Amino acid sequence: MIRIINNASIRQAEQLLAAGELVALPTETVYGLAADAYNETAVQKIFMAKGRPNFNPLITHVADIAMAERHVEIGPLARSLMENFWPGPLTLVLPRHADSLVAPTAYAGLPFLALRQPQGIILELTRRLNRPLVAPSANKSGFLSTTTAQAVAQAFEAPLALILDGGPCCVGVESTILKIDQQERVYLLRAGGLALDRIEALIKKPIITTLPLKQAIEAPGMLTSHYAPRKEIRINATYVQKGELLLAFGPQRIRGYAEAVKIINLSRTGDLDEAANRLFEALRELDQNAAGQVIVVEPVPLEGLGLAINDRLQRAAAPRKQ
Ligand code: TXA
Ligand code: MG
Repeated sequence: MIRIINNASIRQAEQLLAAGELVALPTETVYGLAADAYNETAVQKIFMAKGRPNFNPLITHVADIAMAERHVEIGPLARSLMENFWPGPLTLVLPRHADSLVAPTAYAGLPFLALRQPQGIILELTRRLNRPLVAPSANKSGFLSTTTAQAVAQAFEAPLALILDGGPCCVGVESTILKIDQQERVYLLRAGGLALDRIEALIKKPIITTLPLKQAIEAPGMLTSHYAPRKEIRINATYVQKGELLLAFGPQRIRGYAEAVKIINLSRTGDLDEAANRLFEALRELDQNAAGQVIVVEPVPLEGLGLAINDRLQRAAAPRKQ
């Protein structure tokens, strides 16, 4: 059931979460499917609802750095990242304390825990409950993330007890995930809503973006086919054919655009933040448009949030393993 955010629906969310039930809610990045991070049964319900493989761990959302500190080892570099970018679209994967109360299913038994302090109603709920909430993106595993309450409602076959409706998310793509090792080397596990140049300006060293395969597997959001629409999708397109659906970017159109049965422009001015904000809704709309069977996507520059946009598009275009 979709409910606008107000005192009564916030109280209902609090009660459901405290009782070990799931609540879908907006974060500044995408909608999440939240559960009490300490409740093993509740965490398992997330994996069931999403059809998520149990080796793919969840992000733990905390109220503040002090709450994070109860669960992970925070070195000077991680602390500085938290102080500068939290609350916000940055997740840090850090060594987990053995006595962390987070349910083992949430971190898939790994010695590391992924943490972020989010913005919005989810942050308010971690404060009210005085405990962390785990929340993956609110979609079936392998499909498009959701940025509106209506898209969440459509994404799950079994109705969710409560979807808090906070309107469209403001960032539109998931958080950037970094892993920091003992030597304070910084690895990119997932490009996301916080641009790498902003992070590098703070830490004054390059982020390592080419992961050995073994480490890449540690963030299965990085597995090839993900964020997939049902239709065929062709990225970095240079032409459009008759009857295709066009996902455009910027003021210039590619060859044959007039043949497209539908055009959605991610940003007419070529603004990458605006494009990220519209990405998942635009893909969903084209996927549901019966007039065409192929989605072609114009090139999006590989800078700023363009990294996250290209990452999601590549995974959306990758062949599905069914
Ligand atoms: O913006 C976001 O991050 C959203 C909102 C709801 O917070 N959440 C989100 O969660 O995108 P999810 O579950 O869709 O993606 C979480 C990613 C997965 O790719 C997972 O593999 C990675 O985080 N992850 C979680 N724990 C990890 C760990 N201990 N080590 C490495 N990667 C981890
Ligand atoms: Mg996801």
